[in-house]
Amino acid sequence: MSKQLCAVMAGCGGISRAWLDAIQTIPDLKMVGFVDINQQAAQERAEQYAWKDALIGTDLAQVLTATRPDVVFDCTIPEAHPQVTMTAFAHGCDVLGEKPLADSMETARRVVQAAQAAGRTYAVIQNRRYDPNIRRLASLLASGAIGEVTTVNADFYIGAHFGGFRDHMRHVLLLDMAIHTFDAARLIAGANPKAVYCHEWNPSGSWYDHDASAIALFEMERGIVFTYRGSWCAEGLNTTWESQWRIVATRSVTWDGAAGLYGQVVAETGGFFSKWVEVEVPAASPTDRVGGHAGVISDFVRCIQTGAVPETVCTDNIQSLAMVFGAIESAEANRRIEIAM
Ligand SMILES: NC(=O)c1ccc[n+]([C@@H]2O[C@H](COP(=O)([O-])OP(=O)(O)OC[C@H]3O[C@@H](n4cnc5c(N)ncnc54)[C@H](O)[C@@H]3O)[C@@H](O)[C@H]2O)c1
Repeated sequence: MSKQLCAVMAGCGGISRAWLDAIQTIPDLKMVGFVDINQQAAQERAEQYAWKDALIGTDLAQVLTATRPDVVFDCTIPEAHPQVTMTAFAHGCDVLGEKPLADSMETARRVVQAAQAAGRTYAVIQNRRYDPNIRRLASLLASGAIGEVTTVNADFYIGAHFGGFRDHMRHVLLLDMAIHTFDAARLIAGANPKAVYCHEWNPSGSWYDHDASAIALFEMERGIVFTYRGSWCAEGLNTTWESQWRIVATRSVTWDGAAGLYGQVVAETGGFFSKWVEVEVPAASPTDRVGGHAGVISDFVRCIQTGAVPETVCTDNIQSLAMVFGAIESAEANRRIEIAM
């Protein structure tokens, strides 16, 4: 039987509900502490999810010293992620944290080094990777059925009226959302980024204070080109939150971000147009990683129990973060940026 892991949650705001909904379905997890700089938020989460013996606090180090958990779940704001993670390592804990890994590349590198020096696992909850449709697409591509990928295009158009901090945030689309799409592009292309050119702007009619639209062109490994067109202030004809995709290979495939996955392969050449036939897209594999937040958390638990490496471990996830900060740097400098780890 696997060892049950004891966990402390740091940050008990909006997203912690998605985590706790998932955690209550995982028998191998026991919540022993809730921490938030706002004590009431921590208290409320412990009560709502009936973890009545859990310790509540405002100081993570104190709660970790008192409860000695195996893992820390970091649901704090991006600026607090490095401090929460380092405190967890200092108490011998492994960490699964909300995206983004850190609030700058410099801090991200420091945290990755600290995890390695401490011999601890730090993984990021890229929940949109754990989606059955993207897994189906990724396995179709990995099977070679549509040939070698050369080009990946993603369109993300959502008219999101959040209200609150996002309306006033700089680089809101790139910083708060695009990490999911860029991470998905790495999974789909099976390639890491090398360089980016990005243009960011705030369209007329936008209800955001700062740039809420962006177009980015990434040069990826193996000569693959990934283009991203995105907006959080596009009214009408919205795409899914997963984006709408076209993948061009020696043959082609499109994905609407939901269950619509269509591919064509060449049946005959010789004319102005080749003749194409629809490619059969196999059903999802039972071994695929799915389940959103619950899927990533279960996988993390299994990895800590068995010593395996989570798919979204920080040493890999930093590549997705580098796409975000590379795009921002490019937009600010108005030039192509080489992406450095
Ligand atoms: N994966 C997703 O789909 C998704 C969706 C929404 C938010 N997020 C991410 O989740 C994180 C939190 O977002 P949210 O919407 O829950 O924000 P929120 O503001 O609702 O909650 C954050 C909580 O963290 C607490 N906090 C801040 N600093 C802290 C610290 N040093 N120690 C302990 N607690 C601290 C705040 O008091 C607050 O209760 C962000 O990184 C965000 O990007 C991810």
